[in-house]
Amino acid sequence: MITIAVSKGRIYEEALPLLAKMGIEPIDNPETSRKLILPTTREDVQLIIIRATDVPTFVEYGAADFGIAGKDVLLEHGSENLYEPIDLNIACCKLMTAAHKDAPPISGRVRVATKYVTIAQQYFASLGIQAEIIKLYGSMELAPLVGLADCIVDLVDTGNTLRANQLEPRELIMHISSRLVVNKAAMKMKNAAVAALLTQFEQTLIENHS
Ligand code: ATP
Ligand code: PRP
Repeated sequence: MITIAVSKGRIYEEALPLLAKMGIEPIDNPETSRKLILPTTREDVQLIIIRATDVPTFVEYGAADFGIAGKDVLLEHGSENLYEPIDLNIACCKLMTAAHKDAPPISGRVRVATKYVTIAQQYFASLGIQAEIIKLYGSMELAPLVGLADCIVDLVDTGNTLRANQLEPRELIMHISSRLVVNKAAMKMKNAAVAALLTQFEQTLIENHS
């Protein structure tokens, strides 16, 4: 049995068509089912749909053989204990700094609100900017509006969330997409099954592009 851990929400929705092309479709509807392990139309593959930030943990410990997670989450978690063989090119967005549209350019000492504490620390350190990082778990856009922070580090796609809150994107930190990650032990112990599924992922992505 191969277990694939998928981030719930956006990534799951974008991964579904890809998995379906590989013959992997959940039998129960995860929207309505209370099951945490979803059997699929492929007898040898099951899905677990979990919070984005938990995906690297499940794969690292071998609770799942494969995982589908955003590069943002992988970087923040640290992915040195995982293989990251394939960029799935789904859930694409940008990790950026953003500030109030009337705020001066970021310089000197700044207060930064973000859920990406490690990435933000490294980013500001690389610029030689002294940053006080305030960890939040959501609604980062609120922080500059209420005086909690000078700027935020968050994901930006359409820019609608920033605009709706009188914020503007400032610096691009990196482009983000979802990656396939693989447990290192599974790569050895279940080599045939893992390699076959990897090839299938690659082929499906090539077909999608042609
Ligand atoms: P949780 O609430 O479980 O902590 P979350 O709210 O961060 O998760 P999502 O917003 O669905 O969950 O984000 C999951 C992943 O989807 C992110 O890690 C990122 O890789 C990607 N993502 C997030 N926002 C966007 C966006 N606006 N456009 C494209 N991809 C996005
Ligand atoms: C994400 C992200 C931004 C928003 C950016 O939040 O945290 O708030 O998308 O997208 P946009 O540039 O297209 O507006 P999401 O919608 O996933 O909600 P969340 O706060 O629950 O993570």
